[in-house]
Amino acid sequence: MEPIEQKLKELAEKRHLAKLGGGESRIEKQHEKGKFTARERIDLLLDEGSFEEFDMFVTHRCTNFGLDSQHYLSDGVVTGYGTIDGRLVYVFSQDFTVFGGSLSETFARKICKVMEMAMKNGAPIIGLNDSGGARIQEGVLSLGGYADIFLRNVQASGVIPQISAIFGPCAGGAVYSPAITDFVIMSQDTSYMFVTGPKVVKTVTNEDVTVEELGGSLVHNQVSGVSHFLAEDEKEGIAIIRKLISFLPQNNMEETPIVTCRDSIDRLDDDLNYIVPDNPNKPYDMMEVIKSVVDNRDFLNVHALWAPNILVGFARFNGRSVGIVANQPTSLAGVLDINASRKAARFVRFCDAFNIPLVTFVDVPGFLPGTGQEFGGIIAHGAKLIYAYAEATVPKVTVITRKAYGGAYCVMSSKHLRGDINYAWPTAEIAVMGPRGAIEIIYGKEIREAEDQDAMAKEKEEEYRDKFATPYIAAQHGYVDDVIEPRNTRFRIIRALESLATKRDMNPPKKHGSIPL
Ligand code: HXC
Repeated sequence: MEPIEQKLKELAEKRHLAKLGGGESRIEKQHEKGKFTARERIDLLLDEGSFEEFDMFVTHRCTNFGLDSQHYLSDGVVTGYGTIDGRLVYVFSQDFTVFGGSLSETFARKICKVMEMAMKNGAPIIGLNDSGGARIQEGVLSLGGYADIFLRNVQASGVIPQISAIFGPCAGGAVYSPAITDFVIMSQDTSYMFVTGPKVVKTVTNEDVTVEELGGSLVHNQVSGVSHFLAEDEKEGIAIIRKLISFLPQNNMEETPIVTCRDSIDRLDDDLNYIVPDNPNKPYDMMEVIKSVVDNRDFLNVHALWAPNILVGFARFNGRSVGIVANQPTSLAGVLDINASRKAARFVRFCDAFNIPLVTFVDVPGFLPGTGQEFGGIIAHGAKLIYAYAEATVPKVTVITRKAYGGAYCVMSSKHLRGDINYAWPTAEIAVMGPRGAIEIIYGKEIREAEDQDAMAKEKEEEYRDKFATPYIAAQHGYVDDVIEPRNTRFRIIRALESLATKRDMNPPKKHGSIPL
C-alpha cells in the first residue's frame, strides 16, 4: 500500500491535469481569440469558492482514429453546481481546448447527469457552450448523446429555468439544446450558431455567406430571434446570466424571490400625466413609462433587438419579480406583427410556467396588414399570443395607456382573456379600429357625396373620437376596472399585484393544450 501522502499527491496531480484541459498551448490560443476557458467562465459565473465539480476524472471510451492514445481528464466539459447570490444552480461549461469542445458519449453523459440533478433538486441549469459539435470520431454515439440532452431539455422545460450562453461555435444539431432552453445569450464577435455552415449553404443554395452573416450574434439577436441577449463580451454575458437568475424562482413550484425594495411604493411621477402626446399619431417611448413605474428604474430587456415594436422583460414591483409586456409606439407604432406576437407569446408562457406575474402596457393600433404578414402566417402567430395570455393563470395586471384597437385589444391581456385587474389611462382609446379607418367604413358613402368632403370627414372623425376614443365605454361595461391617473400608475400596479398575491386559477384538466405552434 502506498502511504496516504502518495495517494494525495496522485489526486492533486490528476486534479491539476484535469484543470489544464487540452493543455497550456490550447489555453493560450483560446485567450488569443478573446475567449475565456471553460473553468474561467465558471469562476466568473458562480459565487467565489462555491463551485463543486462532478466527473473530473471522466475520459472518453473511443478507440477510433487514434483516439485511444489521446485522453484528457474531464473529456471536454466541466460540470457541477455552485451558487449565484447564494442560490443553488447547476452548470456545464464546454471546454474548447479538448477536441474543440466536441461532444462525445461520455461528455453527453456528464451533461445529462447535472441536468437530472438540477431537476431533482429544483435548481436552474446553465449551459456555457463553446463546441465544434458532434465528436466526429465517435459517430452515432455522439449523436445519441445529443438526443439524450434534448430529451432532458424538454423534460426540464417549465420545471427549472434553463439558460444557455453561446461563447464560441454552436453548429449542426448542437443548436437545438440551447434552442429548447428558456434564454440564449450570445457574445458579440466570438459566437455563432447555425444548422449548416457556409460550405454546405454554398453547395445547396449557391449562396456565398460568411459565418458571421449566417449565424453571428447580431443575426440571432436582430433577425432570427434565436438569441435573447447580445453581450459585448463573455464577462457581460455572464453578468446577464447572474442578473436574469436574480428575477427567477428556482423551479416551477417556488415563488419568485423577493428583494428589499428601497424605492417608495407610492411615489408619483407627474411626467407620466403628459407623456402621451395630444396627437394620437405621435409616438412616445414606452420604455420611459416602464422605467418610471418599476423599482429603481431597473428593467432587464429581453430580446431587446428583435421585434422592438413590443418590449418584454423583467422588473420588480415592491421587490417582487414581474414579467413586463408592452407595445412600443416608437417602433412601427407598436403594431403587432409576426415577430412581436412570437416574442411576447413565448415570454408570457415562460412567466406563467414560473409563477411570475405579468404586467402589460397596451398601446397598439392593431395587427400589421399586408401580404408579407398574411403569407407569413400572422393568423397563426397572433393566435399564439392569444393562447399564451388566455392560458396564463399567474396574476395579470394590464394598463391601457392609449390605443387598444381591434383584435389587438382582445389579445393584450384583456379582461376577456382572464386579465385580473385592467386599468386605463384617461388617454386610452378602446375601439374596433382607429377613427380614420372607422369613418371610411361607416360613412364612406356620405363623405364621398358631401360637398365639402374634408369637412364632413373631419366632423365624423370627431364624432367617432368623442364616442369611442376614450376609456369610458369600456369602463362602463367593466372591461376596465378603473381609469387611473397616469402619475399614480406605480402605486396602483403595486396594490393590484399585492391583492393578487394569493390568486388561484386553473385550466381544465388535460394532457396538454394544442397551441398553434
Ligand atoms: C472532433 C474536433 C471537432 C469535432 C474540432 N475538433 N471540431 N474534434 N470532432 N467535431 C478539434 C480539432 O481537430 C482541433 O484539434 C481542435 O478541435 C480545434 O479545432 P480547430 O479546427 O483547430 O479550431 P478552429 O480553427 O477554431 O475551428 C473551430 C471549428 C472547426 C470551426 C469548430 O474545428 C470545425 O469546423 N469543426 C468541425 C465542426 C463540425 O462540422 N462539427 C460537426 C457538426 S454536425 P487539435 O488536436 O488540433 O487541437 C453535428 C451533428 C450534431 O454536430 C447532431 C446532433 C443531433
